[in-house]
Amino acid sequence: MATLRLGDSAPDFTAETSQGSLNFYDYLGDGWGILFSHPADFTPVCTTELGTAAKFKSEFDKRNVKMMALSVDGAASHNEWIKDINETQNTVVNFPIIADEDRKVSDLYDMIHPNADDTLTVRSVFIIGPDKKIKLILTYPASTGRNFYELLRVVDSLQLTAYHKVATPANWESGEKVVVSPAIPTNEAKEIFTKGVEEVKPYLRLTPDPTA
Ligand code: BEZ
Repeated sequence: MATLRLGDSAPDFTAETSQGSLNFYDYLGDGWGILFSHPADFTPVCTTELGTAAKFKSEFDKRNVKMMALSVDGAASHNEWIKDINETQNTVVNFPIIADEDRKVSDLYDMIHPNADDTLTVRSVFIIGPDKKIKLILTYPASTGRNFYELLRVVDSLQLTAYHKVATPANWESGEKVVVSPAIPTNEAKEIFTKGVEEVKPYLRLTPDPTA
């Protein structure tokens, strides 16, 4: 299959998960989604990631983002592993983990990178908008656990920039100043952004976070 790129439609699928058979689009409904893969069950970094993901679920819920994880082990294995995750990470895994034994979803989303590992998925992240288009793709190697604060931060940026004519600068956090979209002339920007526009350079205009 062709490599997925930003703006492409997220492939739909029906898969066995730790919570039974689920259709991805039905699960997402009209909200946002985050789909993230793990190399394998009963591995240390993945255990910490899934425990952390569970602790962050209420934050993803607030942002209307449905979470779905994946590894290439089976549902029975996932459910045994979840007991360990809950025990060691002091949490309750409360979102489905796809049991992708036949690599169907991994192949659809190109989550196996053979030059890194022939059979296991890398740490892929896909953030999907309510229009079912892919808004963000991240790929980490098995040896590096992901930063879930960054995943929330990027959701905040994606959601803000989806609904307002702004972009978010380096290291931006929700509530901080944002950049006016380059396509908007400054005189027009001053009408749109009533909280004020600071022209640092003609191409670099800042305005307070319009949602703060
Ligand atoms: C881990 O989750 O710890 C892991 C999995 C596969 C390779 C290396 C680390």
